[in-house]
Amino acid sequence: MKDLTPRRDELEHIETASRDEIAAVQLERMKWSLRHAYDKVPHYKASFEAAGMHPDDLHSLEDLAKFPFTTKQDLRDNYPFGLFAVPRGEVARIHASSGTTGQPTVVGYTKADLDMWATVVARSLRASGLRPGDVLHNAYGYGLFTGGLGIHGGAEKLGLTVVPVSGGMTQRQVRLIEDFSARGITVTPSYALSILDEYQAQGLDPRKSPLEVGIFGAEPWTNAMRREIEDAFDMHAVDIYGLSEVIGPGVANECVETKDGLHIWEDHFYPEVIDPETGEVLPDGELGELVFTSLTKEAFPIIRYRTRDLTRLMPGTARSMRRMEKVTGRTDDMIILRGVNVFPTQIEEQLMAVPELAPHFQIELTRPDRMDEMHIHVELAEGVEASAVHVSHVFKGLVKSNVGVTVKVHVAETGGVARSEGKAVRIVDNRPKG
Ligand code: DLL
Repeated sequence: MKDLTPRRDELEHIETASRDEIAAVQLERMKWSLRHAYDKVPHYKASFEAAGMHPDDLHSLEDLAKFPFTTKQDLRDNYPFGLFAVPRGEVARIHASSGTTGQPTVVGYTKADLDMWATVVARSLRASGLRPGDVLHNAYGYGLFTGGLGIHGGAEKLGLTVVPVSGGMTQRQVRLIEDFSARGITVTPSYALSILDEYQAQGLDPRKSPLEVGIFGAEPWTNAMRREIEDAFDMHAVDIYGLSEVIGPGVANECVETKDGLHIWEDHFYPEVIDPETGEVLPDGELGELVFTSLTKEAFPIIRYRTRDLTRLMPGTARSMRRMEKVTGRTDDMIILRGVNVFPTQIEEQLMAVPELAPHFQIELTRPDRMDEMHIHVELAEGVEASAVHVSHVFKGLVKSNVGVTVKVHVAETGGVARSEGKAVRIVDNRPKG
């Protein structure tokens, strides 16, 4: 793999500024953002007042902890435009979550917000090793999902040649990567695996593809999966994080030269990590739920938003801005199996240790006789003729000894596990409701 480290003079000043300078920028912007939310959004005025707080009460960054949280429910209750802080006519774009689990959540951007978003995404793509003039194959979905258009805006801002292919039609994905000589690909890690399968199906060697870096996010993935993808394509794999409520992709990104966690673009998004039970702010280094406050957003300011993502904050390395550890999972995705907490990423890690199995998996939960059972559906790797009984035994043993739960493993033929074209569905819950 080539060294893709950007030169220091290619970075924005703030990326390597002193901590004092960053903190000063944050404090000034935080005061503005709290005031903006309070003055323009009735929900924030009411929630601040209910907590006995006023924007003037913020004198230091730590004071933020006294302000109330915002949750997904607040977004639902204010559907569609109730949390917007500018007149509807100044909103240049709207994105929304798919809403498969209830009311969709809607977010909005002014022209200035779109420009800020493009700036942080451009920063992310540069940190990943891309340069003006490079071809970027953007396979995140275009539409209401923030992935496609969010990456697109930043890629144009950085000066890349963007191929807005979106998700799906996997055969065509391979053909366009090859024909247009894409140097970078932006896609969910699970769909990257489907593209990898397609390379093999077409008899092409993925290690000979023009790709030099993949920028993967929108769902949790492990370092074990990183090694698998890097090795299969002979390219760098870096992590990009974000969520619609905060802006979309580009809230945080790994640097290609270190790959040691994601630098949070703290000049625009202020992070805290809290104890999800008590809401108390935890010191850097401790694992908890990530909370974000936007510092510069106009149309949709968000104050202390509970992401439900679990991670820890760490000091800066390649950049001055703090890093977050790769997200282990969401509080919503935590399965409690007979008293043991299990995240799909832990299953992924064990799966990667069994070379006879392909990296695709899906977890099914059932409850026969009032006892929860976890079934893991996996499939044989291409060309493997190992006896299914043997590999399922090995995998089951790894899960038992390293994750601490007894599971049932179902090994299908190659291609037997459902493929994703965007975010993978890792858990299918077939337990009786109620
Ligand atoms: O997934 C934005 C995005 C698009 C990020 C493309 C990266 C690349 P939402 O659909 O609102 O936005 O989903 C946000 O996805 O709270 C996390 O649970 C999860 N997520 C996003 N990035 C990562 C990541 C986009 N790198 C939710 N690692 C977040 C783990 C991630 N989980």
